[in-house]
Amino acid sequence: MRKLLILTIAIVLPSLLCITPLDAKKPPRKKAYVHTVVEIPAVEPQVIAVQTANSSLVMQVDGKGVLRMCHYGALVQDPSQFLSYSDGYICDNDPGPLAYPSAGGMFTWRPALEVRYADGSCNTELYFTGCEVSGRKTVVHLKDYVTALTVDLVYEAFADEDVIVSHTEIYNGSKQAVTLTGFASSYMVLNAREYLLTHFHGWWAGEMQVDREMLGHDTKVLESRRGVQNTQINNPSFLVSLNTREWSETSGEVVAGALAWSGNWQIALEQPQTGLLNISAGMHPASSAYPLKAGESFITPDMIYTWSGNGAGQASRNLHRYARRHRLYGGSKVNPTLLNSWEGAYFSFKTKTLTDMIDDAADMGLEMFVLDDGWFGSDYPRNGDAAGLGDWEPNLKKIPEGIDYVASYAHSKGLKFGIWIEPEMANPESNLAKQHPEWLVQSPGRENYTRRNQWILDLSNPAVQDFVFGVFDNTMKLSPSIDYIKWDCNRLVMNFGSSYLGEEQERFYIDYIQGLYKVMRRIRERYPDVIVQCCSAGGARVDYGALQWFDEIWASDNSDAICRNYIQYGTSLIYPACIMGAHVSTVPNHQTGNITPLKFRFDVACSGRLGMELQPKTLSPDDRALADRCIRSYKSWRDLVFEGDLYRLASPYDGTHYALMYVSEDKSRAVVFAYCLKYITGLTASPVFKLDGLDPARRYRVTEQNVDASCWWGDGQVFSGEFLAAGGFNPRLNRPLTSAVFYLEAER
Ligand code: DGJ
Repeated sequence: MRKLLILTIAIVLPSLLCITPLDAKKPPRKKAYVHTVVEIPAVEPQVIAVQTANSSLVMQVDGKGVLRMCHYGALVQDPSQFLSYSDGYICDNDPGPLAYPSAGGMFTWRPALEVRYADGSCNTELYFTGCEVSGRKTVVHLKDYVTALTVDLVYEAFADEDVIVSHTEIYNGSKQAVTLTGFASSYMVLNAREYLLTHFHGWWAGEMQVDREMLGHDTKVLESRRGVQNTQINNPSFLVSLNTREWSETSGEVVAGALAWSGNWQIALEQPQTGLLNISAGMHPASSAYPLKAGESFITPDMIYTWSGNGAGQASRNLHRYARRHRLYGGSKVNPTLLNSWEGAYFSFKTKTLTDMIDDAADMGLEMFVLDDGWFGSDYPRNGDAAGLGDWEPNLKKIPEGIDYVASYAHSKGLKFGIWIEPEMANPESNLAKQHPEWLVQSPGRENYTRRNQWILDLSNPAVQDFVFGVFDNTMKLSPSIDYIKWDCNRLVMNFGSSYLGEEQERFYIDYIQGLYKVMRRIRERYPDVIVQCCSAGGARVDYGALQWFDEIWASDNSDAICRNYIQYGTSLIYPACIMGAHVSTVPNHQTGNITPLKFRFDVACSGRLGMELQPKTLSPDDRALADRCIRSYKSWRDLVFEGDLYRLASPYDGTHYALMYVSEDKSRAVVFAYCLKYITGLTASPVFKLDGLDPARRYRVTEQNVDASCWWGDGQVFSGEFLAAGGFNPRLNRPLTSAVFYLEAER
């Protein structure tokens, strides 16, 4: 009571006596601060659904214009039932599962969009203003009423493939410039009891290694910050198996996603306390705060999603079909078998070395010869990796007759001809680097570190884009007989900096890749039919953005057939076999020292686009005969590899064998590959592979390829699809590094 009295006197008395504290001079009178809130127009509640044959992506708009994601999963024929759907979490500190959350408003998780405005404020709240549907495209319009920034969410439904592709278009409708500090291509909300994430890690010569983990209540970020070589240590893609702790090829719900972008990327999988899984995927915002002037738009790359109710196998097949039909530059076009000069000759060759290789390639039945690195540079000859990059004139000391002579020689032998370039790079020891230091990616005052003795050119600069286009164009002009270009990219970005971008350095990472795509667009306009391989020290640029322009990828510099099982298995989870260059090389393998049988090496390479990369003269007559035989049989059924549906039968990670098969769309033909990788007693003794994707009612003749004595008791006989799926197929592959290829054809 006494305390209360003292407190009251202390507060009330000074004001009664009008005592002003000595140090608090009254400020001049100001107008009262009035906080006005911009009114958000009410909208008609509605449901927006993006439907494919077997899946639905359903969003809901409430009366205030808040857009939420209610469902991505099994098809709901009548999605209007989601009109009043509630996940039970919406309250005054949780806006519920927003379809494209921005930083601001009630949203305090990881947003899809972050914007810094001219006055320094960073809040954006997006409200629905309309939706348009035309053909397979649905565009949802959102607006921030305070700043007039608008966002269009664009969804494309590929019904037959159960794929939904989304991107976002951000438009600065205000009168002042803004800065985008976060710009996801898409945002996805999944709802399950638990989530098993499958993603990829790797390194040079070990790309697309599979990692699996249960997601916890935190954020798992997959990312690349290397500028280019965006897929060497991970890949902008993943699969999430729902309500399970076990990977299954054939059962359960799986959502798979892949970002079509060849630069820095970020995929964040965030499981907040609600148990939902928020996935935001897009270009990486790190060091890439992007300026957007009044009236300008920013268009994100595509994020590709598929849902499967039948396990991971179906998810991969959906992506593969979508890629072949709608995404890949070359579709499922069959690319030629080839001999590449790299591991057989490296930098040491002269004309005769090449014409001999061409003779041997033709003799073995291969269809193309590719002259790899080392053919160019005169002042700084490319006789190793320390000089010549950037100077793309042929080295006439090595090939005095010129490139056209070698290319025409290949044509005269019935082979196509391909040639290697690495146009984004320059060695310090080159005329290019000395004449155009302003074209190099470098940061003033800082060391320009080399990697593989080379620097990288600044493709954000249009002059450099012209130069890079010119490298391709001029190379094509070396001979009318050039059919194929291998485009390499052997380093990443460090100490980034562009003399062209001036004070807008943070545009660099995005503008570089957009510059690359601009160059590729020009190339494709002029050379629509030339086959272009995307190589980046192996598989360091394997993404669906690059694959819009390139015909195939070099999956890895690791040509060891044992390692290739893992690399090719990982690649197959997201990318179709038709793009995957796979070569037979010599033993001991140059990357690992492993010695594997030639038959094993062929059987592994034949599950992709077959090639050879060795000096054919080192093959014994028996090996040559086997090579002829394998190449001949491959050519007779390779359409299945390029166009068929993939079924993985055994994972190299799970036990002793890796096995897979491709089945024609009409299920009349198939090819099965099986490899024994290690010996673990009884497990290895008699593997059973349950063939998948066949018609149970049809009868198939099963014939082992490339052997005189088969490893299966049923070779050459006819069996029902039902029998083969039930476990009747048990080839005796019980020794490590034994392998088999079986061709199946249905009886008419
Ligand atoms: C790296 C590639 O991955 C190899 O296949 C080969 O082309 C070398 N570069 C050439 O320098």
